[in-house]
Amino acid sequence: MSLSLLSQPVRDKFRRRPFGGIPYACQWIDEEDIAVVNEVLRSPYLTQGPCLEKFEEALAKTTGARYAVAVSNGSAALHLADVLCGAKPGSLGITSPITFAATANCLLYCGARVRFVDVNAVTGLMDSVNLHEVLAEEAEKDSLKNPLILPVSFAGRPVELPRIQKIAQQFGARVIEDAAHSLGAENENHGEVFSSGSCRYSDAAALSFHPVKHICCGEGGAFLTGDAKLADRARLLRSHGILKPFEGHTGATPQGPQWLQEQTELGWNYRMTEMQAALGLSQLKRLPFFLERRRHLAKRYYEAFQNYPFSDIIKTPPLIPGHACHLFVVHFPNSRLRDSAYEFLRSRQIGSQVHYKPVYRHPYYEKKFGFQRLPGAEKYFEGCLSLPLYPKLGDTEQDRIVETIKDFCRTC
Ligand SMILES: Cc1ncc(COP(=O)(O)O)c(C=O)c1O
Repeated sequence: MSLSLLSQPVRDKFRRRPFGGIPYACQWIDEEDIAVVNEVLRSPYLTQGPCLEKFEEALAKTTGARYAVAVSNGSAALHLADVLCGAKPGSLGITSPITFAATANCLLYCGARVRFVDVNAVTGLMDSVNLHEVLAEEAEKDSLKNPLILPVSFAGRPVELPRIQKIAQQFGARVIEDAAHSLGAENENHGEVFSSGSCRYSDAAALSFHPVKHICCGEGGAFLTGDAKLADRARLLRSHGILKPFEGHTGATPQGPQWLQEQTELGWNYRMTEMQAALGLSQLKRLPFFLERRRHLAKRYYEAFQNYPFSDIIKTPPLIPGHACHLFVVHFPNSRLRDSAYEFLRSRQIGSQVHYKPVYRHPYYEKKFGFQRLPGAEKYFEGCLSLPLYPKLGDTEQDRIVETIKDFCRTC
């Protein structure tokens, strides 16, 4: 249905941007993206077709992971990763509280017990010393059952996977990188450069292609792994656990006629449509440009905030090479100033957001697991505010944001 067929109030609703001025995040869809999605709509395949395969190949190439299995969203990718790495009722799932709730929720879907490990108060990343402590404590209580660790490369800053994997091996735990924020991020270990999501130091990783992320599919995600068996099972489970001989699942392909479809495991409908895959493939071509813009804008923010009057009020975590700059987070000395800054920016039509309220503070988690406070996460959360950062944000718009924050700092 074209927009013109809709009633005026509905049309207005669709046309209205979610935020009137500068949003905190925004996708960049160009004419080529629109053309490839249109082409799919005229093709015989709307799901599980050639674009999906091409997108998966391109994702594997971009991240360096051997296998990529594209799914309906990042949460589905995390859920599959948890299941495939052995999460089940009674398992222990360890993650960071400074993340989107999905990282922990997916563990709960499997019936796992969730424990939060404290983060570095400056970067918000899982702290490996705290991780070791938590694992040692659980081992002493003899309660380490199928342990899983989900570190998050939060904001686009790569988490220290080599160290985390070493600790995991000590305790027989598996590692899943939540790379929803970090497509294109690079890390270094003793001179070896590896990409976020490569699974070089993890059993699996999950990506998200939500519109605020590095590339956008509307909704979308990918399960990444270096293990052929895990990839095969992920393909099976994203489609109800049903084997189809004509889709050539490797492994136990059932004997029988071509029409045969047999469910061998309990899976889900986590399939990605061809429209999503085509859009993702088209967006992925522009990933180097998107990253360049994000890094350019992050550097401009960083440099601006080193000077008076910002330097008295705002702290900015250091930018490191390889940072994929998904979010640009600044820290105010306390939540009162942060909240005032949020309102001040909002009154000038500038969006910002808090990433994140620690997951253990969500009412659902408090009710389920009780009151919890971790000092690093609390410190991080207290004054954090993510400023607008997305490739389409112009330098002039960014200057306006910086000037507005300057005005705010003058009121403090
Ligand atoms: C860190 C993190 N993990 C997982 C997810 C879940 O991804 P999706 O929204 O695609 O399900 C998100 C999405 O915002 C996220 O930010």
